[in-house]
Amino acid sequence: MTQENIQNRFTIQNIKDSKGSDNPLVCLTSYTTPMTKILDPHCDVLLVGDSLGMVIYGMENTTRVTLDMMINHGQAVMRADPTSFVIIDLPYGTYEDTPEHALETTKRIIGETRCDAIKLECNASNKHIIKHIVDNGYEVMAHIGLKPQHVLKEGGYKIKGKTNQEVSDLIEDAKAAEDAGAFGILIEGTIESAAQEITNAVSIPTIGIGASPACDGQILVVDDMLGMITDHVPKFVRQYANLADTISEAAENYAQDVRARTFPASEHTYKGKTS
Ligand code: KIV
Repeated sequence: MTQENIQNRFTIQNIKDSKGSDNPLVCLTSYTTPMTKILDPHCDVLLVGDSLGMVIYGMENTTRVTLDMMINHGQAVMRADPTSFVIIDLPYGTYEDTPEHALETTKRIIGETRCDAIKLECNASNKHIIKHIVDNGYEVMAHIGLKPQHVLKEGGYKIKGKTNQEVSDLIEDAKAAEDAGAFGILIEGTIESAAQEITNAVSIPTIGIGASPACDGQILVVDDMLGMITDHVPKFVRQYANLADTISEAAENYAQDVRARTFPASEHTYKGKTS
């Protein structure tokens, strides 16, 4: 990391200060070096999310994402020397069983990537896992609400916070995470009134995805907001570009030029004497 970037780094204190402020946290996922270089100047937080399983590897869900995949993409993101605060997801099956396993996974991710923090999907019963990681000196973000790693157990992606019981469970999950030392909470797929109640109930910032403007910050999966997906755009996504069409058009033009032998042209061609 360059000296300049060390000084300009978005810090854990900056994240904490965003609680209830007029400056909502701007967060996106990122998985590669070139994309990180493009996104970094505009973001406060970049997440190497396990959504990479679906976005990059074409998997059906996140449950088969491996620790090595997360570390490789975490290293790619950190190679861009970002000033954003970088969080990496603990993948499914690498932390839920024991606090020791969770710590070992965290140590590998942070040790091998030099990212700032990890995120894990949790509820109140995982409090001891968060606490063990935090007590050992690592920063943890809790992911509550709709939890993609639980999609098989839950039989689909279900929006949360629809009943009083669900709302009080979510508040309990958020308070447990705060109590255990988490620095922030990502709330996914949760109805607005519930997200508002959770945000009011804790003194650490909440970052929402499909969880309304009530949160202290917002995150989107970068490929969603760039319009790289063309079918089943989730309700909570605003597409700020239509890269799928842009890329397809570029590929079509390239194919036409190659077939017409108008590419490569003379300016793309190395010329000189052969000896
Ligand atoms: O993996 C991911 O991209 C996430 C999103 C919910 C932001 O956790």
